[in-house]
Amino acid sequence: MINVAIIGTGSVANSHIEAYTLFAERCKVMALIDSHEEKAIELKEKFQLDCLFMKDYHELLNNEEINLVSISTPPQFHAQIAIDFLRAGKHVLVEKPMALSLEECDQMLEAAAESGCILSVVGQNRFLDPVLRLKHTLDSGLLGKIVHAQVDSFWWRGHSYYDLWWRGTWEKEGGGSTLNHGVHHMDMLQWMMGMPQTVQAVISNTSHDNAEVEDLSIAILSYPNGSLAQITSSVVHHGQEQQLVFQGERARISAPWKVYASTSQENGFPERNPALEEEIEQVYNSLVPVIYSGHTGQIDNVLQAIENNSLQVLIDGQEGRKTLELITAIYEAAITAKPVNLPLTKSSKFYTREGFLANAPRFHAKLKSVDSFQSNEISLGGNLEQT
Ligand SMILES: NC(=O)c1ccc[n+]([C@@H]2O[C@H](COP(=O)([O-])OP(=O)(O)OC[C@H]3O[C@@H](n4cnc5c(N)ncnc54)[C@H](O)[C@@H]3O)[C@@H](O)[C@H]2O)c1
Repeated sequence: MINVAIIGTGSVANSHIEAYTLFAERCKVMALIDSHEEKAIELKEKFQLDCLFMKDYHELLNNEEINLVSISTPPQFHAQIAIDFLRAGKHVLVEKPMALSLEECDQMLEAAAESGCILSVVGQNRFLDPVLRLKHTLDSGLLGKIVHAQVDSFWWRGHSYYDLWWRGTWEKEGGGSTLNHGVHHMDMLQWMMGMPQTVQAVISNTSHDNAEVEDLSIAILSYPNGSLAQITSSVVHHGQEQQLVFQGERARISAPWKVYASTSQENGFPERNPALEEEIEQVYNSLVPVIYSGHTGQIDNVLQAIENNSLQVLIDGQEGRKTLELITAIYEAAITAKPVNLPLTKSSKFYTREGFLANAPRFHAKLKSVDSFQSNEISLGGNLEQT
């Protein structure tokens, strides 16, 4: 039996507890930790948990019964809490974003390596059928070289979204739509395309005058083989029509799923290639549907690794770091108005959190701050299943 503690029992903690309680034969939620007692009590009652409650996670570090912690606090605390639990010999599943700087990611990776414990970073979209199938189809090579990717991380959040105490500042949230929303799609993109060589970007705050951070960014990524990708990370897109579109030399595929293949006529104009489309469809449909998806899929993945005494999880700390490196490069390119080459090194002004705080633009002062909203309900994203 794997004993679990949840650190931070706000909105997203619901998805973690739902998964752990579904796997009741494999694990038990033993402790809920939140600096606000009423938050923990709410979830304890909702899920009818028989568990400990603490306000301060330090009290749990020496508890020998705990094997795994889910960290779902605001982003500014992720790194320190993860490092403390890794050093205490506990496996860690940390919510996105992994941390607020590459320096923090490196410290987390070091703590994981020293302890021999699992460090996994939430990227629940990788555990969705349309995403797994897209990756499988890209890996088949049927499309030829991927020449262009279009990633629309389109979300919509009202003005009051940034009133929550930890949102909307570089210090506590660490960034805006690029870090906290685009992170989902950056994770999928770097998983599917690898890391780019150069990043160019622009960030803006168009609609949220209660936030220091951006609500819209557009980045162009160049890959060593000449391919390009464009990523828009936004919280100003009505309808949240998210997509990842990959253009190969021989066909295009996307999530939400669509395939179109062309060949060239004698004069260079396109002719549809239904035979290739059929072949690609077959590869796409050949993958067995997942039993557990989203957060539940990722938690199953982490539990399996612990059960098998393995450190192999689909999204480990190195994967989380790559996504943060991409995001950091987007900020650096936008803020310095210069292309940025990867890999980023420690000499980057944006390698540390202090560097971010010293260099990031404050689009607006955050003048309003609320402790919490009446409703804890959140939606986790666009529907990549839709056509
Ligand atoms: N994977 C996803 O789709 C997804 C969705 C939403 C949020 N998130 C991420 O999850 C994290 C939490 O977001 P949320 O929307 O649940 O926030 P939230 O504000 O609803 O909940 C955070 C909770 O952490 C508690 N807390 C704050 N500091 C603490 C500390 N030092 N120790 C213990 N508890 C502490 C707060 O009291 C609060 O109850 C963020 O990193 C966010 O980006 C991920």
